[in-house]
Amino acid sequence: MINVINDLEVRALEKISQAKNVNELNETKAEFLGKKSPVSEIMGKMREFSVEQKKEIGGRVNQFKVAVEAAVLKRLEEIKEEEVNKKLASEEIDVTLPGKKFSKGSLHVLTKTIEELEDIFIGMGYQIAEGPEVEEDLYNFEMMNLPKDHPARDMQDTFYITETNLMRTHTSPVQARVMLEAKGKPIKVVCPGKVYRRDNDDATHSHQFMQIEGLVVDTNITMADLKGALTQVFSKILGENTKVRFRPSYFPFTEPSVEVDVTCFKCGGKGCPLCKGNGWIEVLGAGMVHPNVLRMAGYDPLKYQGFAFGIGIERITMLKYGIDDIRNFYTNDPRFIKQF
Ligand code: DAH
Repeated sequence: MINVINDLEVRALEKISQAKNVNELNETKAEFLGKKSPVSEIMGKMREFSVEQKKEIGGRVNQFKVAVEAAVLKRLEEIKEEEVNKKLASEEIDVTLPGKKFSKGSLHVLTKTIEELEDIFIGMGYQIAEGPEVEEDLYNFEMMNLPKDHPARDMQDTFYITETNLMRTHTSPVQARVMLEAKGKPIKVVCPGKVYRRDNDDATHSHQFMQIEGLVVDTNITMADLKGALTQVFSKILGENTKVRFRPSYFPFTEPSVEVDVTCFKCGGKGCPLCKGNGWIEVLGAGMVHPNVLRMAGYDPLKYQGFAFGIGIERITMLKYGIDDIRNFYTNDPRFIKQF
């Protein structure tokens, strides 16, 4: 009988050590210690044994039970630990794996040009000013020396909202606003922003585009100051050796007025397809602030002079990056936008 129990114990301990989970362990425990287990059967038959045998077998059965229970407890601890380890392993993070790529946005190329220009002007002592896009006829035209029925109003096809309100056709009205606010004091500002024209969109026209306006008002301001300022700006954005030249032109708000060319930054002035062979590229309109404009804004033109200029942001950007269609800026095609 003792041998039977010995064999049973070997089997029990082996099976317990092989239990894969708590369920299996409980089943094994029931198999060897439960009511229908072989040892229960042996205990049931105790009456049939002699006193000596009862003592011996009973003692052995007790040892068996203690051993089995201890083995079950031990295995239970092991199983728990195995489960924790399994969970940890499943949650393990490999920090050396390459990360997920997030596609990130970037500044629009026009914003880049504006920021670049603003930085240059700030470095030259200019302040940044802004004005409304829905503007009054008063500032957009009248205070820019373009009274009602002035033929030069035709130079800028206008989106009128009412008799007196319109979408500003240029950033020049900010000049009038800044001058009125400065109340006769010297001025040195640039004003970037959107402008609107009643044009049909094509490769070189857009019903909405951007400008940056410049205005300097002080005593003793001459065209040499204007040329010096523009030379400095364009040598920074288009290259150090860029030269600037003035051609006579006409704007109602400046007298004299000029159109400004820069030496072609692609060929350095020798002539190439970009500058259509003549070595110069037109970049902006400018001039000395018209005495009427100064006077209307509260400045005495005998004491104060000023220069002003209006740069087309798209034009500069197209030249700089070799972009041949203005509509690219506004159609939001990622293939275009991502290039900058
Ligand atoms: N406002 C003009 C335009 O949109 C550009 C311009 C020309 C602005 C001469 C100026 C200037 O300040 O002096 O065509």
